Amino acid sequence: MSVTRFFVLFVGLVFLTALSVCLYLLGWVLYIHWKYRHIPSPKIMGNFFMGHITELTEFEKKGRHLSMLFLKWKKEYGTVFVIFTMNRAIVVCLEPSIVKELLVNSRSTKPAALYGKFHTVFGQRFVGNGLFSELNNDHWEKKRKMLNPPFKRKYLMDLMYQYNNSTEELISYLKLKADGKTEVHMAHEFNKVALDIIAKVAFGLDNLNVIHDDDAPFCQAVAQSMKGLMHYIRTPFWKVDFRKESQAAMEKSRKAMIFMRNIAEKCILNRIEDIKEGRNYPEDILTHIIKYSRSKDGMMGMEEMIDECFTFFIAGQETTAQLMSYTFEMIGRHPEIYKKLQEEVDCIIGEKPVISYDDISKLEYMTLVFKEVLRYTPPAAGIQRQNVEDIIINGYKIPARSNIALSHYSLSRDERFWDKPEEFNPERFREDNTSFDKEF
Ligand code: HEM
Repeated sequence: MSVTRFFVLFVGLVFLTALSVCLYLLGWVLYIHWKYRHIPSPKIMGNFFMGHITELTEFEKKGRHLSMLFLKWKKEYGTVFVIFTMNRAIVVCLEPSIVKELLVNSRSTKPAALYGKFHTVFGQRFVGNGLFSELNNDHWEKKRKMLNPPFKRKYLMDLMYQYNNSTEELISYLKLKADGKTEVHMAHEFNKVALDIIAKVAFGLDNLNVIHDDDAPFCQAVAQSMKGLMHYIRTPFWKVDFRKESQAAMEKSRKAMIFMRNIAEKCILNRIEDIKEGRNYPEDILTHIIKYSRSKDGMMGMEEMIDECFTFFIAGQETTAQLMSYTFEMIGRHPEIYKKLQEEVDCIIGEKPVISYDDISKLEYMTLVFKEVLRYTPPAAGIQRQNVEDIIINGYKIPARSNIALSHYSLSRDERFWDKPEEFNPERFREDNTSFDKEF
């Protein structure tokens, strides 16, 4: 075969393959739109093939939360509507009854298109099949049962010493900075203290020095891993992004993840040794993970145990730190709330050097403030699930294996359930307040 013929054949084949892929994708997109044609959907402003991606990104660029866009669309299309992101349909359900239906009554699974992304990031195992990203529902249920005890009140009550300790360290660090001139980024400080507490209480790691050392490698690695994850989620075509700076950023994220996973591995090996040698060890999350790995249901190897440890770090740190940061922001914006909080703390805690679990349960107003912060700015705005069977919501049939978005941010700002939802008002959670739907 002559070189020219070979070249023509090669170009023809490439062209045909590209055409087939395009036709397949177009067919799939049309099919997806057809499948959900009975459910209301906001008008697509940009390219039909891209679906609502343009609207979503434009809204985010204005610095607004996507959940607010869902609330806007709710007014026009009702509480159940479908949005399209290229080849995917996402049914947005803004009804509390469906949250209960999917998470409590009927079986649902985690959609791979979202949760699967957490498994491996830029080719490096991230949280793998940990509790958060476990896609096999049977495996998830067993793991969840086994890893539930550390979330119970009794377990948390025993950790007061550690909370006091880390808070004390943060205060002493802030005192050093309090010269009237140095700016302190409190979101960063809360990130550090959340990390410090989780490392201590969940994994017995008490030598990380994250509070006093801004450049502590552990802290940097967690931040870099999270940055890498966000970059990865927003960059579907990363494999063909050969730009030098992109490659360098990906490599940095991979290294951070390896660093974190290595630390988790060391923790696991040390604890296994402690258990084997009959030394004293705490019944913390790490012990539960190791015990689960050895149970008949668990049967986890080292990689899977590391997945679980890394999951707890990532899931627990960011959310807790955000809750603290938002609380700080809200009390800064509302001096009257700050004053009331201060009065309560002065009255109940006063000059006590160590705070007990009982003291915390007496801080009623503070509890109201935290509840209101969780309502007003929930650190995790929503979740997604897939229904195992067809379900009917508001008269619409949602076909089995649909991606269903549940937004507690949107529900928390919904006038049907809250009086003046845009107002930050901790008092709304008082027992005697009847202005919101308590069942909700
Ligand atoms: C204010 C603090 C927190 C908030 C608002 C929060 C919120 C959430 C939400 C909404 C989910 C469900 C995610 C989904 O299914 O897509 C979740 C899952 C999870 N969270 Fe948290 N979380 C907080 C603190 C923590 C802490 C302190 C830990 C551990 C140390 C933790 C560990 C986890 C784990 C392991 C999961 C996966 C559970 C499963 O799928 O069974 N979280 N969290």
